Amino acid sequence: MSYILGIETSCDETAAAVVEDGRHVLSNIVYSQIPIHRAYGGVVPEIASRKHVEVIRHVVETALEESGISPDELSGIAVTQGPGLVGPLLVGLSFAKAYSFGLGIPLLGVHHLDGHICANYLAFSDLTPPFLALIVSGGHSHFYHVTDYGEYELLGGTRDDALGEAFDKVARMLDLPYPGGPEVEKLALLGQDRHNFPMALLEEDSLDFSFSGMKSAIRNHLQKHPADTEAARADIAHSFQERAFDVVETKIKRAILQTEAKTLVIAGGVAANQRLRQRLSSLAIDLRFPPLKYCTDNAAMIASSGYYMLQSEKRSPLTLNAKPNLSLDNCG
Ligand code: KG4
Ligand code: ZN
Repeated sequence: MSYILGIETSCDETAAAVVEDGRHVLSNIVYSQIPIHRAYGGVVPEIASRKHVEVIRHVVETALEESGISPDELSGIAVTQGPGLVGPLLVGLSFAKAYSFGLGIPLLGVHHLDGHICANYLAFSDLTPPFLALIVSGGHSHFYHVTDYGEYELLGGTRDDALGEAFDKVARMLDLPYPGGPEVEKLALLGQDRHNFPMALLEEDSLDFSFSGMKSAIRNHLQKHPADTEAARADIAHSFQERAFDVVETKIKRAILQTEAKTLVIAGGVAANQRLRQRLSSLAIDLRFPPLKYCTDNAAMIASSGYYMLQSEKRSPLTLNAKPNLSLDNCG
């Protein structure tokens, strides 16, 4: 048996988890700072860093306690190395480095996006690479061909706003609180599809995404026609969500045609959206979404990623630094 302690602090969640053999979650503690940042309409990095410092020890101790695993039974400490906010990342990294040094066990610097993909290993015991993955989060809308555990080929990505970022920005235009994604989803349920906001499908074979044009069109629309009733705001939320998912669906169909993939894994915060799940359910492919609790940031997914690093004998040095813009092919 191998037990990995995972630590995640890349943004506004302080999270720790213990996972057995990369797949079985023994504990999964997430301390969310959302109520603190809501007052500012978004994450304030300095406040996030300070809060991480304040709670990380308690979060890790609780994760260990709930798992029933003692520190000397751990095989490694997995921690998010990037991408993310540098201050918050440094808090998790410093804690993990000290812990790994103190216990004399491997430090495993995990790529946050690899973690999001590994969230699916926690739920689907039969899922093994290769497969096609789409990550839709606050910072990414990226297609990858996952060739092996921790091995990726980038097929297409965000050219401007990521999908979650577009949800957050449209939410702000509609005076919805942070984080905007779940709020837009809720408001959209009350609206109808009345607006044909422009979709950027880009070149015929492109798997890149661009959502900034749609976002600007909504801003212009609101300047000309202020949405002063809830019904008007709900229609905009509804049409934005439908057009954004039209783009996602079109791109997924392209990706399936191009790669002839049999399995598609969706990961990242936007994967929590029920309308997205419903719309994609008719695709002729073995489709996997993580359970809701593993869609948004958590440390169980980081521990799973760390397990597969350890399996392939990858370790990180104690000089490991935070990498706010880390790409998926140069982690560790
Ligand atoms: O993966 P995540 O928790 O953090 C990042 O790594 O970015 O994703 C957060 C993003 C935010 O932009 C949030 O608004 C979006 O995911 N999100 C959603 C939903 N839940 C979270 N977007 C649409 N619908 C949702 N239900
Ligand atoms: Zn994330």
